[in-house]
Amino acid sequence: MKPKVAVTNVFPDIALEKLKTRCEIRYNESGRSLTADELAENAEWADVLVTYLSDKIDAAIISRAKQLKLIANYGAGFNNIDVAAAREKNIWVTNTPGVLHETTADLTWAMILGLARQIVPADQYTREGKFRGWGAKLFLGTDVYGKTLGVIGCGEIGKAVARRALGFNMQVLYHQRDQLPLEQEKALNAKFVDLNTLLQDSDYVTLHVPLTEYTKYMIGALEIEMMKPSAYLIHTARGKVVDDKALVEALKKGRLAGAALDVFEDEPELTEGMAELDNILILPHIGSASTETRDTMALLVADNVFDALDGNRPRTLVPGWEEKAT
Ligand code: 8YV
Repeated sequence: MKPKVAVTNVFPDIALEKLKTRCEIRYNESGRSLTADELAENAEWADVLVTYLSDKIDAAIISRAKQLKLIANYGAGFNNIDVAAAREKNIWVTNTPGVLHETTADLTWAMILGLARQIVPADQYTREGKFRGWGAKLFLGTDVYGKTLGVIGCGEIGKAVARRALGFNMQVLYHQRDQLPLEQEKALNAKFVDLNTLLQDSDYVTLHVPLTEYTKYMIGALEIEMMKPSAYLIHTARGKVVDDKALVEALKKGRLAGAALDVFEDEPELTEGMAELDNILILPHIGSASTETRDTMALLVADNVFDALDGNRPRTLVPGWEEKAT
């Protein structure tokens, strides 16, 4: 009998075909996220569950598992999974590190430049036939090169964002729990600072921390208050790292120059008033959305599935799985 793999949402063909060579697949190709009941039913049926950030795999769902060996998350972030509950039942949990940081850094830069030079409003204006000739004050933006970039969370993605700043001759400040090794700081020309200094001194603040109990709402009204009124906030991490209500209020009052969000507190819902603001750029969580990267992520998921089915430790177990469940 073939091992059973439940894929809870749309998955690239290349990796689906790979899984099909060895497994019986239950595939939700509808594009709709499964309900908690449907997820639990899949957890009960499957040997492996391939999950998405929109699937909340909590202890109740995990308790329904009968022969589940692995929860393979299609994404680097894994805050949607109760890792301790999985560990308790000896179910492996994997994610997709090391393959999406460059693509997410590209999007972060598109957001920085898009905000600074008002790319989306300028495109709209032109399409609407409002462009009647060159204007000295038409869509005056602000510079990016030579400014100060504040990177909060200098892991894979944060570093890839900082590396791109070298080409813009920016001063890079970063903040996270631990300082990077000196040679990495030197290569990135980045300075380790406390959060307040970063917020006060940066022209562009970009967020790249995972969502944990420590990072939840780490950017709220007080933190925004510390930023320069001319500064921009860029967010491609996880929605709940930012208090969106406080951000909307600050943007309404012009307390910040602007913000670019690829993730939202109550995703996919937008906070009230957000869509009406004109100093915001909002995207539908597309940080890793390039064809090449999504294929690579999915093939890594398939490798993890085969590792587990062969009885081997999957190659990209999530950090923390190893530690004794608390
Ligand atoms: C994924 C992401 O597309 O990797 C992550 O953490 O947020 C995105 O790149 C998403 O997780 C898909 O489930």
